[in-house]
Amino acid sequence: MSFDPRTSFGPQVAATYDEQPRGDEEAAVARLAELARGGPALELAIGTGRIALPLAATGVRVDGIELSEAMIEKLRAKPGGDALAVTCGDMAEVQLSDRYRLVYVVFNSLMNLITQDQQVACVANAARHLTDDGVFVVENVVPDPMYGLRQDRDGVDQYVDASRVEPGRVSVEVGRFDRATQRVDKCHVQLTESGFRLDPLALRYVWPSELDLMARLAGLRLLHRWGGWAGEPFDGRSLRHVSVYRR
Ligand SMILES: C[S@@+](CC[C@H](N)C(=O)[O-])C[C@H]1O[C@@H](n2cnc3c(N)ncnc32)[C@H](O)[C@@H]1O
Repeated sequence: MSFDPRTSFGPQVAATYDEQPRGDEEAAVARLAELARGGPALELAIGTGRIALPLAATGVRVDGIELSEAMIEKLRAKPGGDALAVTCGDMAEVQLSDRYRLVYVVFNSLMNLITQDQQVACVANAARHLTDDGVFVVENVVPDPMYGLRQDRDGVDQYVDASRVEPGRVSVEVGRFDRATQRVDKCHVQLTESGFRLDPLALRYVWPSELDLMARLAGLRLLHRWGGWAGEPFDGRSLRHVSVYRR
């Protein structure tokens, strides 16, 4: 089974995307505002503006690149959403004429590029958009090394995770992981008495160390790596990282 990433954030997902905020928005915006040093800032995969809109409200100009028209429509419908310059296109390819003191990609969105080449191109594109003193910030999960221990009889790494089991409603996430390409094809499945909903998603896991090499290829060096937006230390138990690169 393989998914087309362009359909992963269509109208169905966009309609409910903001219903369950992650809860780290305030900390993320505070950190990004500090790193922007007055801006301007560019968000790659800006989505519905979950981070960009509150960041813009701090006085920083925020532009965006986003592949999904449905997500852009949601952003535009929010207060202040019309004021942001958002270009519809692929964050690995779109080239804007402006340069930014902060370019950032958060909430694992770099992994929406499902090949290493696309991720390398995206990091290079981020670097291309930086001012000389600009920083590139990536927030991403640290891949789960246990994937490799869950092979089934056919040699496929796979999982089923029941996130919600209630009378009349069950939510499960099912996924298959390919070690060779670091690609995950997964689907959030919601089953209710009235029917079911499928939200497919394709991702490519990227390790922090691999990201550092992509940054080096783009002429960037790691300046900070934290375990979260509040500057938590990054160590072997960290489930995610906030990494800051500069020339
Ligand atoms: C997990 S959402 C994150 C949205 C937003 N950054 C946030 O933090 O809420 C991932 C976003 O990446 C967008 N996306 C996926 N592939 C993309 C690409 N190649 N170029 C630009 N945006 C892309 C999706 O449409 C979606 O809006």
